[in-house]
Order: sequence, then structure tokens, then C-alpha cells
Amino acid sequence: MFSTTAQRSRGDADSPSRRLAFGGDYNPEQWPREVWDEDVRLMLEAGVDLVTVGVFSWAHLEVAPGDYRFDWLDDVLDRLTRAGIGVDLATATASPPPWLTSLHPEILPVTREGTVLWPGGRQAFCPSSPVYREHAVALCRKMAERYAGLDSLRLWHVGNELGCHNALCFCDTSAAAFRGWLRERYGDLDELNRVWGTAFWSQRYTDFEQVLPPRQVTAVPNPTRELDFRRFSSDELLANYVAERDVLRELSPGVPVTTNFMVMQNSKEMDYFRWAEEVDVVSNDHYLMAEDPEGYTELAFSADLTRGVARGRPWLLMETSPGAVNWQPRNIARRPGELLRSAMQHVGRGADGILFFQWRASAAGAEKFHAGLLPHAGTDTRTWRESVELRRVLDAVAEIEGSVARNRVAILFDWHAWWASELDSHPSTDVRYRDVPKVLHRSLTDAGVGVDVVHPDSDLTGYDLVLVPTLYTVTDTAADRLREAVEGGATALVTYFSGIVDEHDHIRLGGYPGAYRDLLGIRVGEFLPLRADEAVELSNGWRGTVWAEDLQLTGAESLATYVDGPAPGVPAVTRHAVGRGSAWYAATRLDRDASDALVARLVEASGVEPLAGVRPGVEVTRRHADDGRSWLFVVNHTDAGVDVEARGLDLVSGRSADGVVTVDAGGVAVVREA
Ligand code: GLA
Repeated sequence: MFSTTAQRSRGDADSPSRRLAFGGDYNPEQWPREVWDEDVRLMLEAGVDLVTVGVFSWAHLEVAPGDYRFDWLDDVLDRLTRAGIGVDLATATASPPPWLTSLHPEILPVTREGTVLWPGGRQAFCPSSPVYREHAVALCRKMAERYAGLDSLRLWHVGNELGCHNALCFCDTSAAAFRGWLRERYGDLDELNRVWGTAFWSQRYTDFEQVLPPRQVTAVPNPTRELDFRRFSSDELLANYVAERDVLRELSPGVPVTTNFMVMQNSKEMDYFRWAEEVDVVSNDHYLMAEDPEGYTELAFSADLTRGVARGRPWLLMETSPGAVNWQPRNIARRPGELLRSAMQHVGRGADGILFFQWRASAAGAEKFHAGLLPHAGTDTRTWRESVELRRVLDAVAEIEGSVARNRVAILFDWHAWWASELDSHPSTDVRYRDVPKVLHRSLTDAGVGVDVVHPDSDLTGYDLVLVPTLYTVTDTAADRLREAVEGGATALVTYFSGIVDEHDHIRLGGYPGAYRDLLGIRVGEFLPLRADEAVELSNGWRGTVWAEDLQLTGAESLATYVDGPAPGVPAVTRHAVGRGSAWYAATRLDRDASDALVARLVEASGVEPLAGVRPGVEVTRRHADDGRSWLFVVNHTDAGVDVEARGLDLVSGRSADGVVTVDAGGVAVVREA
């Protein structure tokens, strides 16, 4: 999808071939022209074939209102085009230039507390600002008019990580836009009052003009307003994207349009399932939290979620770091081989190209200590050598392009549930939304079981095992979908604090968990959250933290009870036979061993086959092509070599696998299966 027809290596001019994209952000405006020659020469040497250009170039492209200077960009793009390097061309609207914010200070974003966020960083604009939108769309139009016919143009890149720094703005412009969004959603004030539960604490509105964004308040703010404000904010940023995208579609038909998502650990702001409907190609940025020695488990989850966002289709890794980043407390360098392992984790989970931030490490500015493919020290560096090796491997496995990873196990994930579950005044602040899905994902990965991460409203009937971790907010549709899957024969696991409220954050009454109570054959009368360091033991030896509850069986059987804690003797893990399937429930946060044990039982009960037998720290994933070919990816994060059952040809080493593929400590293999 993103492959460029390019020479496989220098001097191989007669054998053009398809390649998985490899490259990164290129910021030539930070460097004198002499450096541009070297850039292109070294890009070719490294095998770079796709670069993202112009992300932060607004101030250099429009130096005063309507005064455009494209000559330098023409020059850069011409050099790239002549070298056969593909371009992911940014619309350059990510960060408004100082002249715009000086002329129109009203576009600056304002925090919940009322603090104006001044220029001097980046992305200093209110997502609802019509002034920002008008200037951004005008620049986008100029870019499209000028470069739509560029030979090397592969992809349009709108903005950059929309919402990265300015997702929530509380200014007066945002307030007016929020009211407009609410009018459209709810029609009249009676409905708004009902949905927001304003009978509580004298919050009833009698005029839309009284409605404000959730600015800093005295006490706990209205939760449904908080939730709607997050929905609104995600929609406003998306509307900025759509405004530019529509211009590009009009003036540059046929060239795919994307914007880089941030599906990673802390990225809570955008509802990317919704956003994915508007992009031609899902592209994602992912950065490891280097402090975590097992950060690869988070990468695995995020990459599977990105594939879910992309509705299973191949996607593009738009950014990751070739080495240390600059923005963490301690910017730990990548360990030897980690660059290749991380990249192949993404590819094994559906990425069809690997791009980096950034091509050449900056000499000045806030990111000068952020790694680049081309480090300050030049090409005689480990980063450079490992990048060149990654290009070699991507070429070796290029035949996987367009294939998809799909599995028999699904984890349900929803940004709305994330937003709602972490609002104030809940039973326990220790319930963190991304926590339980990650633990379950890891247990599955350690067992060699492939997993998809999908939206709860998806059709689940193709899955044998469906996991529903802390899915606090559940629509009727989602509840029906799970029931249909279970009745049809699937095994489901629901965990604590799922199915508690509807999409307006209103309790589903009659006993928790309202949305799943009947399906699970249980009824919970009271939540019994645990103290910060408290753990409970279960009758089968498992251990839980964070949560317990007063649960009654109304059809389910108990698989384990609490031995101690606030509810000794009460069921903690249950199973309910429903139709041709079964619905299991876990009413505490199981530790890793218990999660592994429960997942093993669920896998067995559902009849799901692991992709291969592996030990923890060795990842296997599989991609399938329409024509029946398949590839088994093995990524060995451990310090010891491993033999994994496989038959075919390991494209990375070039060796055949006659029953097993041997993967060195820290190595990778991609077996084209016989
Ligand atoms: C984000 C941005 C990039 C850069 C990197 C640094 O991903 O999109 O412009 O700032 O972070 O890690």
C-alpha cells in the first residue's frame, strides 16, 4: 500500500521492486542547503524511500498573511523526486507561526484553570478556532495546488498528531462551539438536562448560554459534561482534519490522505475508532516508555489496537524513535537489536512500513537530544548500522505487504469507556482503564495466542474468545453483540467495573453489572474496593488486588471464592453456560500468574489454538494473504535463543525451517510457511 517502486539497492537500477516503506520525518528547514545534498545521498545509502516533509514548516512557507515562499520546498522536493524517494507531504499546518498568533491571540488555547498557553512551543491553537481553521485550510489549499502533481507524492499528511498538546481547550470560542455541538446532539435543553443529570446539585440549565465547558469548579464536576466535552473535543480536532482532507481530495484526487494517530500508553484524547473512518490510511506514532524494561508488551498491545482501529487492514508506523527520545525523565537508549525487534513487532501486527522521527537529529531546539536515523555523530554509529540492517530485513520480508493479521480472540476496547471510567468520584482510583486489557493481552501473547483488539460494537460472531476488561461504559448494541457471540458458541470473560453505565454515564440499575448481569448469571450488590496495598487470596490460590465485590450467583457457578479481604467466601471468579458458549467473570484484578492461569483455562475452553508454543518474552504473530500464503513472525525479546515450531523459509536469515525455526537471543524470524 505504501510501497514505492524504487531500486532495491544502489547500482541495481534495472530491478525495480516493491518495498515496505522505510524512512521518517525530514525537516530540511533546520539545515543549510549543503546539508540537503548529503541528506539525499545518505537516504539512498540507508535505503530510505519515504520521508515526511513539511510538518512544522508553516513559518517558512507563509512568512506573513498570504505571503507564500515555496521556492525552498520546491528545491527539497525536487531533490527527493530526482533521487526516487517518496514523499509523505505534510500540509504544514501543525504549528501556527508567531505572526498568526500575534495577529490573532484569540486562537491560543486556554487550560481548564483559565491559563492561556502562549506560543513558543508548538500546536498553540484552539481546536475550535475558526481563524486557525481558515488560515490552515488556505495553506493546505496552496500546498495541494502546488504539489498535487508531484511525481514522488505518495501520501498527504494533515497536521501532526492532532490534539497532542491542545486536545482540550476551555476558551470562550470553545464554549460557543461546545454549545453548538450539544444543540446538535440533544436538540433541546430538556434532553440535555436529562442526559447530564442536572437534577443533581441544582445544575439545571434554562438557557443554552449558561452551558460552559468543564472549567475548574469548586467540587466534583458533572461527569456527563466531562464525558461529552471529551467527545466534543475529539470531534473538533477531527473536523480540522476533515476540512483539510476535503481540500486535498478535491485538488489531489487519488492520493491517500492520513494524519498520524497516537495509539500508545497515555494517549487518551482522541476516539481513534471514529477518526479511522475519515482517513485513507491509518498511520500511527508509537514511542516506548524506555524506563519499562518490558515496554515491548505495551508496544504489542498498542500495535494490535492500531490494527483494530484500522479495521484489520494494514497500517503504517508513521513515527517511532530510532534511539532515545528527549521527553522522558531518563531517556534510556535502545538496547542492541531492539530497533529491529520493535519494528518487526509492528510489522507482525499489521504495519506495512516503518518510519521514524526523525531522519537527521536536530542541532538546535527542544528535540536536539532526540535520536535520528542519522545521529549527530554521523554514520559510524550503532543507530545508523542498525537502521541499515532494518532496511535489509524489511526488503527481505517485503512480500508480506498487504497481508493481514486476524485472530480468533478479541479484546474489546473503547476510548469512551476509557474517558468515563477514569472520571472523578468513582469507587477506586486504582481502576486504570488500560491496565487490565494489557495484562490479559500479555497473558495471551506469552501463551503464543494471537489477539485482535476491537471496538465493542463490532460484530463478534467470528471470535471464539472475547475478553471484556473494565469496559465501564457499554451501549445496548455492545451488550447485544457480546450476547450474540456467546449464544453462538464463544467463550467470554468480563472483568470487574464493566457494563456499569450507559453511554451517558447513567447507572444501569437493578444490580451490577447491569449490561452483562443476565449474561453472566450474577448480581453484584456492592463494590468492595481494596486498600492501596491490600491483596486478596482466592480459594484456588490466585491473588487479586484493587477490587472485590459482594456478588450473588443467579445462574452462574463459582470457580473461586475470596479466602480473605472484605468478602470471604463470596465468589470471585464465575462461569455461566449460555446458549452454545459460556460467560466468565473475574471480580478482582488478577495478578500476572493468576491472569496467565485464567487465560490458559479460557483458551482451552474456547478451543483456540496458539499460533505456536512459546515461552514468555518470545512473541509470535501471523499474517495471511488472500491467496492462502501466511507468514509466522517470531520476535525473541529474551537473552536466550529459542526454537519455535515452524515449517517454511525464514526470510530474515534465508534458512529453511524444517519443523523448527531457531531464533537467536534478541533476534527475529519471519517464516514464509510451507
Ligand atoms: C511526536 C511528534 C514529533 C516529535 C516526536 C518526538 O511523535 O509527532 O514531531 O516531536 O514526538 O518523540
